[in-house]
Amino acid sequence: MFKRLKFKHDRTEKNVTLMLVLSLIVVAIGGLVEIAPLFYMQNTIEKVVGVRPYTPLELLGRNIHIREGCYTCHSQMIRPMRDEVVRYGHYSLAAESMYDHPFQWGSKRTGPDLARVGQRYSNEWHVQHLVDPRSVVPESVMPTYPFLAAREVRVNDIADHLAANKAVGVPYTDEMLAEAKADLITQATVDADIDALLQRYPKAQTGDFDGDPGRVTEMDALVAYLQMLGTLVDFTQYQAEENYR
Ligand code: HEC
Repeated sequence: MFKRLKFKHDRTEKNVTLMLVLSLIVVAIGGLVEIAPLFYMQNTIEKVVGVRPYTPLELLGRNIHIREGCYTCHSQMIRPMRDEVVRYGHYSLAAESMYDHPFQWGSKRTGPDLARVGQRYSNEWHVQHLVDPRSVVPESVMPTYPFLAAREVRVNDIADHLAANKAVGVPYTDEMLAEAKADLITQATVDADIDALLQRYPKAQTGDFDGDPGRVTEMDALVAYLQMLGTLVDFTQYQAEENYR
């Protein structure tokens, strides 16, 4: 019996192709065991109340976030571990990044996780911090981004950005596409009529974000994006398993 097994083992180790095929089978089984349950677990497949597509202004801010490489220092995923939950808030739900193309989870944290940074600071703080991080956090190693406040956003192709996201599954309606440009301006305008915007994008924060009400700048867009991160789901209502708390 043992002799026979030993013989087969020898043969496997000496035959590269056989070894490769058997290894792949083992890895495939391991992968299935890890991944398959996720398709059935409630909090990876359910839709969570409150999660909606980004407003045109937030989407533009997100594009700037990606363009400037903010993700190289900031993750956007709070892991279900006690230290993270205590520091940043409720752990991230899969549904919270269901409209992210590409998602911004990341694993590199030179700076803090940003998944729930929305409404933690004032708009003025964000603008000051982005223009000169060391003026508010003296020990910061974050780069400066003063040029964002000087650059007006390009509004003419915003509907195309929405359409591109729609093509990969984000449920933007025809109405949202048609109103994209107007919605972008409305969200960054003080005292605008925001009823229709809020109908389309509940909880959208409006007004002047960059301290310069006359223009819609990249700073407006980026701050609008930062201010909405993690604010869509009402965690006093959300019933998650509380095992990690
Ligand atoms: C070189 C790494 C680096 C890059 C790139 C970077 N940051 Fe930071 N960021 C940091 C560090 C370090 C901190 C913590 C110190 C501080 O608050 O400045 C920080 C803090 C922050 C905070 C405050 C978070 C909190 O919870 O206090 C925000 C918001 C932020 N960064 C946004 C951005 C945005 C937006 C960009 C891109 C435009 C960006 N960062 C690019 C390193 C970086």
